[in-house]
Amino acid sequence: MQFPVNLNLEGKRCLVVGGGRIAMRKAGQLAACDADITVIAPDVVDGFDRIAGSIHRRPYQSGDVSDFRLVITATGNAVVDQQIHDEADALGIWVNSADDPERCTFTLPAVVRRGPVMITTSTAGVSPALSSWLRGRLTDLVGPEFEAIAAELADERARVHATGASTEDVDWAPIVEQAIRSHGGSACLASPDRPPCVTTGACQPAQPGTDPASAGHAASAGAPRATERSDPMTVHLVGAGPGDPDLLTVKAARLMASADVVVHDRLAHPDILALAPATAELIDVGKQPGRTTPQELINALLVHLGSQGLEVVRLKGGDPFVFGRGGEEAEALTSAGIAFDVVPGITSAIGAPSAAGIPVTHRNVSAAFTVVTGHRVQGGSSGVAWEALAQVGGTIVILMGVSERAAIARRLMAGGLPADTPVAAVRWGTCPNQHTVRTTLAGLADAMIEPPSTIVIGAVAAFDFVSPSLLQDTVDIPGARG
Ligand SMILES: C[S@@+](CC[C@H](N)C(=O)[O-])C[C@H]1O[C@@H](n2cnc3c(N)ncnc32)[C@H](O)[C@@H]1O
Repeated sequence: MQFPVNLNLEGKRCLVVGGGRIAMRKAGQLAACDADITVIAPDVVDGFDRIAGSIHRRPYQSGDVSDFRLVITATGNAVVDQQIHDEADALGIWVNSADDPERCTFTLPAVVRRGPVMITTSTAGVSPALSSWLRGRLTDLVGPEFEAIAAELADERARVHATGASTEDVDWAPIVEQAIRSHGGSACLASPDRPPCVTTGACQPAQPGTDPASAGHAASAGAPRATERSDPMTVHLVGAGPGDPDLLTVKAARLMASADVVVHDRLAHPDILALAPATAELIDVGKQPGRTTPQELINALLVHLGSQGLEVVRLKGGDPFVFGRGGEEAEALTSAGIAFDVVPGITSAIGAPSAAGIPVTHRNVSAAFTVVTGHRVQGGSSGVAWEALAQVGGTIVILMGVSERAAIARRLMAGGLPADTPVAAVRWGTCPNQHTVRTTLAGLADAMIEPPSTIVIGAVAAFDFVSPSLLQDTVDIPGARG
């Protein structure tokens, strides 16, 4: 039987041995408590230096544990972990070996934090997945509003103190329930008569000022919460939008805030990543020059993380299902029986033109838009019938088309699209460095366009409703300056 305690580690010297992702995650949990963290490891993963006070890039040496109050070891080497456990235990230092209850003198619970409110779940190390699942449920039941609820109740307590009365004599239950209701907290927590809804996940926020008995499970009123679902989701395929972090959806932001792991692409905005808890593990699977993570590996990673019951946010640029390979990840998760959901995002196919003042449809100008990939045009293997596309009418929006723009222009003109058709290429749409190049189909091949750009072809590409005065005189479309 374990004895639960909450340690105050602020400024206390703690040692983490190991430089991998698990070690970093544990160090993140210590960092959230303002512990003074030292790391010993020959190599550390990217981002570890943001958490650790000092990093000694070398293997563990006998005696290293001696100056610390608490030690966590996650070296991945059972012999070293055993040595660290034995040395720490002999000195009376608390020690935890990642994922190895036998070599632990303490274990780490899963935690939901709401300001000073902290709910921990523990299985004494026998099933971290169950702890994590419970935490997911409690995260929904005990929402962010509990920080304000705690502050209100602290004020109330101080007020009672000030009157000279004893706080022991106050019947706190109705006051607590009223505070929960007034902040729209979970209905089943606000009403003691309500059966718990932890397993169904159908809990609703209470309506401020209403009778708790009338608020309830799966009621239609109130802001939707993640708990309005019948199965616990573990993996969320989340669209991050085209770039500007303010374009993230509210749902995506909420999921980020309770993620255990965020698997993200290279261009993920730091402000969006910063929404994840300090304890969350951030895994960059983005494509970088000289390094790509094969899609199969990403699929396997999501299945692996999801099968541990972790709350995983798979953060993808734009919308996950628009040239984002979200469908392949969904297939892999389905095959493995991992529960997942999809959180749509603003696709760059619409968001980038929009931010540049280009509507992809406009009455009497363009009644349709077609979104295509510009990948592999030359070999003809993109699956896009460019000559036929030239006859469809409306706006053509091309993603990933920069390097093949000459072939694209040639084939569209061969299909009958006039050489003077307006073209706009919006680079870094919605970002501070957004830049739009305006040209025509005939000029597309030689235009200075760089990735990541969304290329818009059609009459609307001459519009700029955001800053009409900056519009160049390359094309003359009636209404373009209006
Ligand atoms: C692999 S696709 C992913 C598209 C993404 N799923 C979406 O819905 O926006 C990447 C392409 O999207 C376009 N793109 C992404 N972000 C962009 C941005 N901020 N501005 C312009 N184009 C962008 C570029 O064409 C880039 O090559």
